[in-house]
Amino acid sequence: MVEEKLKSASQPVSAEGRVYHLAVKPGDVSRYVLLPGDPERVPRIARYWDRSWQVASHREYVTYSGYYKGVFISATSTGIGGPATAIAVEELARVGADTFIRVGTTGALTREIKLGDLVISTGAVRMDGTSRHYVIPEYPAVASYDVVLALIEAAEELGVRYHVGLTASSDSFYVGQERPGFKGYLPPFQKGLIEFLRSIRVLNFEMEAATIFTLANIYGLRAGAVCAAIANRETEEFVVDAGVEDAIRVANEAVKILSEWDDAALKKGRPGITPSVIGEWFEKRKRA
Ligand code: URA
Repeated sequence: MVEEKLKSASQPVSAEGRVYHLAVKPGDVSRYVLLPGDPERVPRIARYWDRSWQVASHREYVTYSGYYKGVFISATSTGIGGPATAIAVEELARVGADTFIRVGTTGALTREIKLGDLVISTGAVRMDGTSRHYVIPEYPAVASYDVVLALIEAAEELGVRYHVGLTASSDSFYVGQERPGFKGYLPPFQKGLIEFLRSIRVLNFEMEAATIFTLANIYGLRAGAVCAAIANRETEEFVVDAGVEDAIRVANEAVKILSEWDDAALKKGRPGITPSVIGEWFEKRKRA
């Protein structure tokens, strides 16, 4: 390891603007960044791109950039859980990213969500610890409406099964998601958690969406999440990788759609994506 002096202890950036953990600098990444947890999913996402290149690989953070259907796009792995994910969002925002889409896996809470189905989150119950360092517990972790719509549109176009609704993001895969810990440990306050979440219409468990949504809202950035159901907590099934390829295809396509909506909004002089921007986009598409 070569010693390198960074700007300061409170701003850990290299002289050329490379952020400490992700090792990327301004210009390396797109405004649109896909966020899988797993570093191995980054090249898998990039396989759908016209061309791609690895920008950096440091610790759990692997970053690729490239072009998907002509749109500049990036993907960075976040690692598992809120703390690692917040670092990714913080550092990507510093180098110019403003739109984040989590591409993850999830445990569905109801039998209606089949293994391999996708869950598009409209918001997340903040059962993480990281977002509490940022803001009061009452602050909602909501996805950006335009990112949610782009994900829905992409899922429709690709003809995949999907569900839209609330997610619970936990910092704990085992006990925090009511799975017995080592030696069957489960404290009384976790017992009945799944049943309770189901009763208030939470669709699924995962570990990063709440942190991403909270930070994005605080910073005026956009975020969404699409997760493949690899587990079902009602039927007790678990199939590794079920639906992951569909989640990747939907997230990539959502970026293409969002970029077209963003361009259309800009041309109309709108500050953001509005129903009329989307309506005109559909009309144009029908005519094409
Ligand atoms: N990821 C989770 O956090 N929970 C699951 O059950 C499956 C994937």
